[in-house]
Amino acid sequence: MNRVAIVTGGAKPDSIGCAVVKGLRREGCEVVVADLYEAGFAALHDCLCVKTDVADPAAVEKMVLKTIQTHGRIDVLVNAVGGSWGITQQDLVASPPRGFRGLTNCELSDWRTILGANLDSAFYCARAAAPHLKKQGGAIVNVASVAARKGIPPGSEGSSGPYAVAKGGIMAMTRQLALELGEFGVRVNCVAPGVVASGRFNRVSQISKKDHGPEGHLGTIPMGRVGTVAECAALIVALCTDDTSYMTGVIVDLNGASYAA
Ligand SMILES: NC(=O)c1ccc[n+]([C@@H]2O[C@H](COP(=O)([O-])OP(=O)(O)OC[C@H]3O[C@@H](n4cnc5c(N)ncnc54)[C@H](O)[C@@H]3O)[C@@H](O)[C@H]2O)c1
Repeated sequence: MNRVAIVTGGAKPDSIGCAVVKGLRREGCEVVVADLYEAGFAALHDCLCVKTDVADPAAVEKMVLKTIQTHGRIDVLVNAVGGSWGITQQDLVASPPRGFRGLTNCELSDWRTILGANLDSAFYCARAAAPHLKKQGGAIVNVASVAARKGIPPGSEGSSGPYAVAKGGIMAMTRQLALELGEFGVRVNCVAPGVVASGRFNRVSQISKKDHGPEGHLGTIPMGRVGTVAECAALIVALCTDDTSYMTGVIVDLNGASYAA
């Protein structure tokens, strides 16, 4: 029996989630991709793609039901949707907004939208998938960010204060879910990337190159380079497999030594 994995945010071809989808397919999983970006679905013809706004709990319930109707089980959930922009149907392919949106100067609507896509979404998906994961055990992997460790300095483009707070919530949720699901053999871990060269990063770096020169923020990364989506996905996939079968409740930093917890 093949394992069945749900990956949220796997439809954009240059996303971390998409690299996770490919990695889980190589591991022999049936993969369900839950994403708003329908244009990416054709390339994922070997997956069940379900158009889903993961910030909408009713849409998440429907996506989980469709997964069960199609495959009959859920073994893995990867919550990869996230970001400060490009996270609603309206702004999916938008450019990053200019200017820094901190906690004290963002719009209330920024707070709601960013918390919705980054934090509420993972809660809705974990809650809807949990009864199915509990049946035979499995793994949940959440994606946080170094932003939750360091905060976002005022002036940073392409990120925001609410984003850092939401990712801090993801870290706490990981620990909480690990406690609640441990007895059912469901492991829950989290990856906290630094800068990863996804399509999202490339769009932000166009701006930072303009503002800060070609080196951008690289000077803050001791390894002298950003991470790749493949490096990030390899870690996430490892946390989904039995290679990490006694590991749960853990946040793994992946940031080229730009921060150590
Ligand atoms: N790229 C980085 O440098 C970086 C750094 C730290 C953390 N992260 C985190 O890694 C994860 C993946 O980031 P990425 O760079 O691959 O982003 P991305 O923007 O390239 O991909 C995000 C995917 O999520 C989908 N999506 C967005 N909003 C959605 C919604 N409401 N419902 C369903 N699907 C939605 C998009 O269509 C896309 O396929 C995110 O949680 C992000 O916060 C990324």
